[in-house]
Amino acid sequence: MSYILKLLKNNFLLTLLSFMKSKNWVNRQKNDHFVKKAKHLGYINRAAFKLEEIEQKYKIIEHSREILELGSSPGGWTQVILNYNPKTNITCFDLLDMKINNQRIAFYKEDFLKYNFTNLKNKFDIILSDVAPNTTGHQSTDHHRISQLIYEVIDRLEIILKIQGSFIFKIWKGEEEKEIIKMLKKIFDKVEYFKPKSSRQESSEIFIISRGYRLYEE
Ligand SMILES: C[S@@+](CC[C@H](N)C(=O)[O-])C[C@H]1O[C@@H](n2cnc3c(N)ncnc32)[C@H](O)[C@@H]1O
Repeated sequence: MSYILKLLKNNFLLTLLSFMKSKNWVNRQKNDHFVKKAKHLGYINRAAFKLEEIEQKYKIIEHSREILELGSSPGGWTQVILNYNPKTNITCFDLLDMKINNQRIAFYKEDFLKYNFTNLKNKFDIILSDVAPNTTGHQSTDHHRISQLIYEVIDRLEIILKIQGSFIFKIWKGEEEKEIIKMLKKIFDKVEYFKPKSSRQESSEIFIISRGYRLYEE
């Protein structure tokens, strides 16, 4: 009997905790300056501002004709791309549907890891990755999972990225990061960190801006 009571108590505490967490999330969203601004400007999500800040600083999108977006759903970044360069073509990959539609977008609803990129006719001026694996809440596990996805993109750069192109991606900070930066420095002229103001300070996410792609020289 006491075992059953203990089980019920634990279940109740777990439900209460997850309710409080979701309530905190709702409250945080309600009061968030960037959530309000996104609504006001017609952006799908606050994530849009992260790419907007990147573009305001680096001005890469405005000069690009072909852009590849990995992890594009629901489409906040795509909206920013179209605002800053309505003439660019955007190839998007996500497991989930996009919430925007535009003749400039070619959307592939699939796992980019399983796609054979040699099927695409063009190489890209920019590869943008906001891909995020499902999180476990365990910082180091999540870091390793996102790093794995980034290594997979790096493996495909030779097929998908034009010489002198850029690769911009999100990562959650952790021990793999140095290795990734080291690899990128061998094949890009410039590699920099960028933490947008719209990225929550408490979040370990950081963006890496790699510009001037070149082939690896020993
Ligand atoms: C943070 S969201 C992207 C938000 C998007 N940049 C925007 O502004 O709306 C991360 C996305 O990565 C996608 N994703 C994760 N793993 C993927 C994979 N292997 N292939 C394609 N998409 C993936 C998820 O489905 C999710 O929609």
